[in-house]
Amino acid sequence: MANLLCIGAGHVGGPTMAVLAQKCPEHRVIVVDINPAKIAAWQSPRLPIYEPGLEEAVFSCRGKNLFFSSEVDKNIAEADIIFVSVNTPTKTFGQGAGKAADLQYWEKTARQILQHSRTPKIVVEKSTLPVRTAEAMERIFHSQDRGLQFDVVSNPEFLAEGTAIRDMEAPDRVLIGARDTPSGRKAMQAIVDLYAHWVPRERILTTNLWSSELSKLVANAFLAQRISSINSISALCEKTEADIQEIAHAIGMDSRIGPRFLNASIGFGGSCFKKDILNLVYLCEYYHLPEVAEYWEQVVRMNEYQQARFLSRILSSLFNTVAGKRIALFGAAFKANTSDTRESPALHVCRALLEERADVVLTDPHALDNARVDLGEEARRVTFEPDPYRAAVNAHAIALLTEWTLFSELDYENIYRSMAKPAFFFDGRNILDHRKLFQIGFNVHSIGKPSLLHT
Ligand code: UDX
Ligand code: UDX
Repeated sequence: MANLLCIGAGHVGGPTMAVLAQKCPEHRVIVVDINPAKIAAWQSPRLPIYEPGLEEAVFSCRGKNLFFSSEVDKNIAEADIIFVSVNTPTKTFGQGAGKAADLQYWEKTARQILQHSRTPKIVVEKSTLPVRTAEAMERIFHSQDRGLQFDVVSNPEFLAEGTAIRDMEAPDRVLIGARDTPSGRKAMQAIVDLYAHWVPRERILTTNLWSSELSKLVANAFLAQRISSINSISALCEKTEADIQEIAHAIGMDSRIGPRFLNASIGFGGSCFKKDILNLVYLCEYYHLPEVAEYWEQVVRMNEYQQARFLSRILSSLFNTVAGKRIALFGAAFKANTSDTRESPALHVCRALLEERADVVLTDPHALDNARVDLGEEARRVTFEPDPYRAAVNAHAIALLTEWTLFSELDYENIYRSMAKPAFFFDGRNILDHRKLFQIGFNVHSIGKPSLLHT
């Protein structure tokens, strides 16, 4: 039996360790966090985050071999393997502000591990980090002569929100990077053995430390790049009457390109893509590779452009003024099946409309509480309405911003009747039947498709 500890009980730490505990019943798994309220929630019937399958996973082993605790120091002392999944947000101050990763929590955690360790530890980097962070960690661990062995292993997470449990249970691959030394190889094997409980061996990749660290940033950069690529072409479609969904289908059937991640949208959101690309950009600048930095920065610029374009379209369609007009925003989450609103393009649209003095009504099945917190002061000027039908009453326009299935199942004839006329529909996710909306009476704008307008 080994004691597995995870520091950071967030979107990554919670689901990851719940599945590890389920799959490795002989090990004792403890998840700690500096935020006692979060730990209390993990110990309660109402978990702090919403993920399909998470409750089943947690409830099946909580109290048996899965525990949540606020006692960080004591649990460090008793652990054999420590996963670190504390947050690494974009730095907001000093050198690298707006791009580089803020590693203050990370370094503090490394020092805390050093201070409270009495036995050798394997420390696993779960959070996304700049390449060569393990080197800095090793230097901290060896800064005092404690006579203890510390091995740093990189094992990045590839969990997408909404499918985190499934991604953990049936991963495309598990990546484990370590030093090519006798103790590094032994540490790597210990982590391989954990995943080998349920992941086929050929899906467990072992690499050098730096490849593993960098692969995580590169995976997110490539995924985001696909979205920016398809979104850039959607702008051209809107000028030429080509249809972005037909194009995505046509190119996606080329097996070299593949069909996934080709949905044109109002842009990508979420806590990772922007942060990780900017981190990559900063690293390229740091290593004096300005052309490479510029290349990747353009992925973020294109994402901003896509959102700006969507907003301009709303404004120009509504006769260049939305001041005092009720506008219903369908969706606040950064994507469907999550309550997460971090970097949500929906909230970006919301803020921009508030700036234009629109009367904004926001509806979402799971994300209104988070949206209220994220909007801060501006939340006072927004109406939060859980019922989409009520949100649309007297609205001049609906903008669909999150691809919840619920929004494609509404009775739009009923909704149309309740709205101000002419009524506009902006489908920022291309999930509705636009011809049908047009027949009902809406003026319809979507992404990368010809607009359908009543004259
Ligand atoms: C975070 C990062 O955003 C991501 O880049 C990385 O890959 C994994 O960690 P996430 O789990 O989504 O992802 O973050 P969050 O939900 O904010 O959880 C981080 C947790 O760490 C928080 O609960 C926070 O309280 C905790 N924490 C932070 C500590 O326990 N100790 C600290 O010193 C700092
Ligand atoms: C992402 C990565 O997928 C995951 O591997 C990593 O560990 C964390 O970052 P996540 O941010 O949870 O996961 O969501 P993801 O499904 O990747 O979507 C990100 C954003 O891109 C969302 O706003 C989504 O709506 C948008 N998106 C996705 C599109 O606009 N079009 C697409 O075709 C796919």
